[in-house]
Amino acid sequence: MTLPDPAHRAETLRAALAEANYQYYVLDDPRLSDAAYDALLRELQAIETAHPELITPDSPTQRVSGQAATQFTKVRHPQPLLSLANAMDEAELHAWRERVSRLLGPATPVVYVVEPKIDGLALALTYQAGRFVQGATRGDGEIGEEVTANLRTIRGLPLRLREPETAEQLGLPASIEVRGEVYMRRAEFAALNAHLTATGEKSFANPRNAAAGSLRQKDPALTAERPLRFFAYAVGPFTGVNLTSQWQTLHYLRALGFPVNADVRRFTTWAEVLAYCQAWMTRRDSLPYEADGIVVKVDDFAQQRELGVVQHDPRWAVAFKFAAREAVTRLEQIVVNVGRTGVVTPNAELSPIVIGGVTVRNASLHNADYISERDIRVGDYVTVKRAGDVIPYVVGPVLDLRTAAVEPWTFPTTCPACGSTLERVEGEAAWRCPNFGICPAQLVRRVEHFVSRGAMDIVGIGERQAEQFVSLGWIEDVADLYGLTAALFEGVEGYGPKRIAKLLDAIQASRAQPLDRVIVGLGIRFVGNVAATALANHFGSLDALMAASEAELTAVDGIGPVVAASLGLFFQREANRHVVAKLRAAGLLLVGESPRQWTSDLLAGKTFVLTGTLPTLTREQAGDLIQTHGGKVSESVSKKTSYVVAGASAGSKLAKAQQLGVTVLDEAGLLALISAG
Ligand code: IVH
Repeated sequence: MTLPDPAHRAETLRAALAEANYQYYVLDDPRLSDAAYDALLRELQAIETAHPELITPDSPTQRVSGQAATQFTKVRHPQPLLSLANAMDEAELHAWRERVSRLLGPATPVVYVVEPKIDGLALALTYQAGRFVQGATRGDGEIGEEVTANLRTIRGLPLRLREPETAEQLGLPASIEVRGEVYMRRAEFAALNAHLTATGEKSFANPRNAAAGSLRQKDPALTAERPLRFFAYAVGPFTGVNLTSQWQTLHYLRALGFPVNADVRRFTTWAEVLAYCQAWMTRRDSLPYEADGIVVKVDDFAQQRELGVVQHDPRWAVAFKFAAREAVTRLEQIVVNVGRTGVVTPNAELSPIVIGGVTVRNASLHNADYISERDIRVGDYVTVKRAGDVIPYVVGPVLDLRTAAVEPWTFPTTCPACGSTLERVEGEAAWRCPNFGICPAQLVRRVEHFVSRGAMDIVGIGERQAEQFVSLGWIEDVADLYGLTAALFEGVEGYGPKRIAKLLDAIQASRAQPLDRVIVGLGIRFVGNVAATALANHFGSLDALMAASEAELTAVDGIGPVVAASLGLFFQREANRHVVAKLRAAGLLLVGESPRQWTSDLLAGKTFVLTGTLPTLTREQAGDLIQTHGGKVSESVSKKTSYVVAGASAGSKLAKAQQLGVTVLDEAGLLALISAG
């Protein structure tokens, strides 16, 4: 076996990363840990940095690439994207079915496909020769906006189609337009909103708005920070394959590597369709995403054509809508909270009300504009909307119920935490406390962010500890965490010697965090993990980053004017430069890792036997991979074998390994073993 060259290794890594995305987003069955994924991605990045000629457009390193858009180009859809007629209750659903059977002939059997109606936004993705070449929003159905660079950042969206595995799944299409929904999961949406609020950006009313807003970012790096996902549910024009039904199409889309909702069903009787729709009504709250109904489609494409389209709605499909989860209650008070960058956000305290089985006491009011545009007043009766476990939000006042006594609400003029006069930046929705250096509320939020998992990952410090350290006067900025000593904790309730040692160890360990995490930890507006990694890779040190001009910043792939301006502002501030100097003095590295070696002796002294078919690596690639890291590959299993790497249809070698008690790994296990180093 020959030692792999960088080109070979890069291809191996790309295949492994694409497979990991497929397992995670399509099969919903992750096999590679996040840490292992990151390690492999970094390794690929290092190879590509050393050998730029090896970069391919569909490399997972190229998800964030291309320049920021100043505006989105309009594109005409080759076939219009239709909308759906609604059925608001079971009677309307029956009426739809009756029309279908009248038009097709009452004796004609009809098969139905039932799919959740995901509340996101519709997209059309064009693939040519297996590669993703263009993506556009639905727009008005005829003309949409081209958002290809932003769509590329969605990890669940394949940049290259998978080769369908079995013959009956058809081959690759010559070209195909895949349609589906970009959406956000509820939990990920809630986390995003919390983050946006903390950094002074506008939070979103619901996951749908969040998905739409995220896709319309001008910097692809910003879109990449947003937890967008994709479900495929239809095809537009295609060539080179023959698709004849919706059910077949959904399976085909999954085989090509698209996430397809796991709750789609095919039914041959109407009674089953009804029962499934009814069951769905009760399940809607337990879904990880928001669905606003269920779509019933006639399965057969020939029947679909026969039924045709009226206006923009096909007769062959209907959306059975869920009732909205809204209720009216009294707005008792508006309270404001201070975030990490000083942004002051309003929240509603409500007269408790049960909405869809959950008691709601608080609701989001987003920002000052949101309140003034809707003229929401304390004492008003307001409509509150709740969607699953997403924080409920105030939709607006019920004007008929308003009494003369309620006064328009005005935003407070001073910070509730430090009393400073609040300021409002031109063109921004947020009011801010300008007392950046000293406001204790801001400092607590900054510490919380600095120690968080995606940043310096200091276990043992959370909101409570951050508040405590700040109020005890121990820390005045995040760098002061590195000055905490065991002596300080003496006599402080709740801190025994063990806990103190653990805490100080965690702080000590964080000194070794790589540059990208330090950049995240600084809490610069708009700079999350994706932008931080791009910046760390490009500049290699915090000094170089701080010295970069806006032009140099926007020259980095995926970094646009918004991120660049924010970085400029941050590093201009004396207080921030001071913190950086203190972090350096505290022994943080502030330089990037040297490009990772793609060879190592991690597996030195270990003997491997390969058997069966691995999901992404060929036998030869896996052998090369083992050898690059110093391991040996042998043909037969003996007591001296360290590991057997087994894939599909492994036979006698696997049996022998089990008999001798030799450790058996799958491909992911092998990759994890390597990336663990
Ligand atoms: S089919 C008939 N299937 O609903 C062609 N649409 O109101 C229409 N949607 O614009 C699309 N989940 O954004 C279809 N499983 C699903 C859907 C779905 C969500 C959205 C889509 C469309 C809107 C129509």
